[in-house]
Amino acid sequence: MMFKTNKITWRSPSNIAIVKYWGKQGKQIPMNPSLSFTLDHCHTETSVSWELNSGGGIQFLYDGQPHPTFAEKVKKYISGLQLPWMDDLALVIDSKNNFPHSAGIASSASAMSALALCLVSLEEELNGKGLDICQFRTRASELARLGSGSACRSVYPEASLWGQTDEVPYSSDLFGIDWSGDLAPEFKEVSDWIFIVSASEKSVSSTAGHKLMEHHIYREGRIAQARQNLNHLIPALRKGDWVSFIQICEEEALSLHGLMMSSRPSYVLLEPDSLRIIHAVRQFREQSGLPVTFTIDAGPNIHLLFESKYESAVQEFVSRELEDFIWPGKIIKDKMGKGPERIS
Ligand code: PMV
Repeated sequence: MMFKTNKITWRSPSNIAIVKYWGKQGKQIPMNPSLSFTLDHCHTETSVSWELNSGGGIQFLYDGQPHPTFAEKVKKYISGLQLPWMDDLALVIDSKNNFPHSAGIASSASAMSALALCLVSLEEELNGKGLDICQFRTRASELARLGSGSACRSVYPEASLWGQTDEVPYSSDLFGIDWSGDLAPEFKEVSDWIFIVSASEKSVSSTAGHKLMEHHIYREGRIAQARQNLNHLIPALRKGDWVSFIQICEEEALSLHGLMMSSRPSYVLLEPDSLRIIHAVRQFREQSGLPVTFTIDAGPNIHLLFESKYESAVQEFVSRELEDFIWPGKIIKDKMGKGPERIS
């Protein structure tokens, strides 16, 4: 099954959460609201080719090759969406990442958002009716959420908030919203250098991690903590307050891993080098006085966040203190990005 015409391609970035989504209920409803920065470099590019009146069927390719595990997930996801127009449509989906998948760089966020964007574009074409940009992104965000919660935040430029909170009008548990308009100039040019401590597959999937939050002994405390951190993060981002940002960002990263370590069964995703980087970053901040901080996703890799104007000082620190024990050459120098892009 390979089609020559009728093809839609989207490139969609990953994102890094500052206030983390960890724990869900029902149909991908988050236990707490979260806020993330959209990345620029780390992305998934997905093409959906389709043919009408062909009896249906979905073929999935990863990097041009069959990938049975991903194929199964994608088919389950699409059938779960129950899109009425899907029944008689044959699809070929071809997806590729420019960074390692399943290594804690939220590859599901870029992958599911890229696919959701293709599906919404396809829906528009089949309906013969375009949506305005706001409706389009909301619909894509909602479909992306059903594939992977964090993916719903990847459809926006710069920053996105997902989860209902009284602090932010129009916030919703069902889709992310664009939060770029609320960022102070100090948060408009943010670098995210990702130190790949390990690129091997995670030992525990985030699906399993979310599940362990259902009966976690700290569940209620975590919900309160995330809400409080979000309530403090919002004014910090609006005012350009990096001091508060750093405190919240690191507390969230370490709490996420604290929750994993205190789950039943517990698990540890951090590696010795993850901790060495954390200590080195804190020491560098203390000595230099520069507002450099870190966050961590569900994996051992460390994201270094700082205003891009400090890049040369950070580079000097990295060359001096970190490069000899990082997996050789594995620093992905990413930054806040402008959101997804339609390629065709
Ligand atoms: O989208 P999921 O189900 O893979 O969950 C990812 C959750 C974290 O990446 C750990 C945090 C977040 O908010 O992105």
